[in-house]
Amino acid sequence: MELFNVYPLYDIVPESADGLYIKDTQGVSYLDLYGGHAVISIGHSHPHYVKLLKEQLDKIGFYSNSVVNPLQEKLALKLQSLSGCGDYNLFLCSTGAEANENALKLASFATAKTKVIAFRNSFHGRTSAAVAVTDNASIQAPINKLQPVEFLDLNDTQGFLKATEDKEVCAVILEAVQGVGGLDQPTKDFYKLVSGKCREKNIILIADEVQCGFGRTGRFFGFQHHGIAPDLITMAKGMGNGFPVGGVLIHKRFESRYGMLGTTFGGNHLACTAAISVLDVIEQQDLMKNAIEMEKVFRQMATEVPQVKQVKGRGLMLGLEFDFEVAELRKNLIYQYRIFTGSSKNKNVLRVLPALTIGKKEIEQFFNALKAELI
Ligand SMILES: Cc1ncc(COP(=O)(O)O)c(C=O)c1O
Repeated sequence: MELFNVYPLYDIVPESADGLYIKDTQGVSYLDLYGGHAVISIGHSHPHYVKLLKEQLDKIGFYSNSVVNPLQEKLALKLQSLSGCGDYNLFLCSTGAEANENALKLASFATAKTKVIAFRNSFHGRTSAAVAVTDNASIQAPINKLQPVEFLDLNDTQGFLKATEDKEVCAVILEAVQGVGGLDQPTKDFYKLVSGKCREKNIILIADEVQCGFGRTGRFFGFQHHGIAPDLITMAKGMGNGFPVGGVLIHKRFESRYGMLGTTFGGNHLACTAAISVLDVIEQQDLMKNAIEMEKVFRQMATEVPQVKQVKGRGLMLGLEFDFEVAELRKNLIYQYRIFTGSSKNKNVLRVLPALTIGKKEIEQFFNALKAELI
C-alpha cells in the first residue's frame, strides 16, 4: 500500500526536536520558525509537557465522553483563568476544522438559519461547513458548495451592513489575524461594527482563534486586542503543542442538550493533559509577554533588510512581505540555512510562526540568513 498523495514534501526526515530546533535523520539541525503550521506553541519536547504526558500515559491515556473526566474540568478552569473568558462553557474536540464545524452547527441550531458571512482569504478547515466558509474554491467539493455563504472583503463596512440585511444569516466567522490568507487583520472599528451588528440582528459571531489563539498574538485570544466578546470562540493548533486538541468556547447564553454535539476522541485524558501542560508553561514562562517583546525585536531586525516591504501580523504570528514570490527564498532558507518558514495564499508573504518561547538569538539567526541570502 502507498500513501494517498496529497502533500508536496520537503525531502527532510525529522527524528528529534528540542525547543526551537529539529534534528533530522542525518543529524542536521534546523531552526523551526513554522511549528508545523503554528502548532508548536511552547517549543518542541518541552520538559513539562513531556513529563505530564508520560505520567498520564502511565495512568490512563483514553476514555470516551461517557464517563467523568476531571481533567476536562481542570482544563476548563485553567483556560478561563488564563484567557479571562469567564462567560463561556467548553466543548472539546480534536482539530481546528472540527471546532469550526461545531461552532457553525451551534450557530445554525441556535438561529434555525443556514447562511454564513465569511471573508476573502479566510481559512477555516476542510470539513463540510468549515471548508464551505473557507475562501478557496479549489478545496471545496460539490457537496460543500451547497452551503449558502457570502464572502466579503475584510473591513468592507458597507458590504457587511448590506449582507446582514439578509434574514437567513445565522453566523459571521472571522479570524483576528488571517493565517493561511497572509496575515491581514480586521481593524478595531470593523471588529466592533461586526460585533455590534451581530448582537442587534441575532447573528452568531464566531471568532476563529485556531491559529491566532493561545497566546500567539500576545493576548490569549486575538480578538481581545479589539475589546469585543464573540458568541463562540474556536481553538486548536497551539492548544496541544502537537497533540491533536481543539475546542469551542460557547457563550453561556447557548443552551445545551444531550447529543447536540459529540465526538469520540475529543477531551480524552492525553488531550486534556497536553492542553493543561501548554497552559502551565504559557503562564509560568510568561509567554504572552515574550510574544510581544519578540515581535518588537523581529520588527526592528526587519528594518535591516531593505527588500522587506512590510511586516504583517501581530505578536509571533508574523509575515514578511516582499515584492517577489517567496517560494525560492523559502527553499533556500531550508536547504542552505536550515530554517523552516511558511508560505501563505499571498505568494509574496513569508510566514513566521515560531514557538512562543523564541528568543533574540534565534530571531538573529533568521535575519542573518535572510541578509546573507538577499543582500
Ligand atoms: C484559522 C484556521 N482555522 C481552522 C484551521 C483548520 O485547522 P485543522 O487543520 O486543525 O483542521 C486552520 C488550519 O490551518 C486555520 O489556520
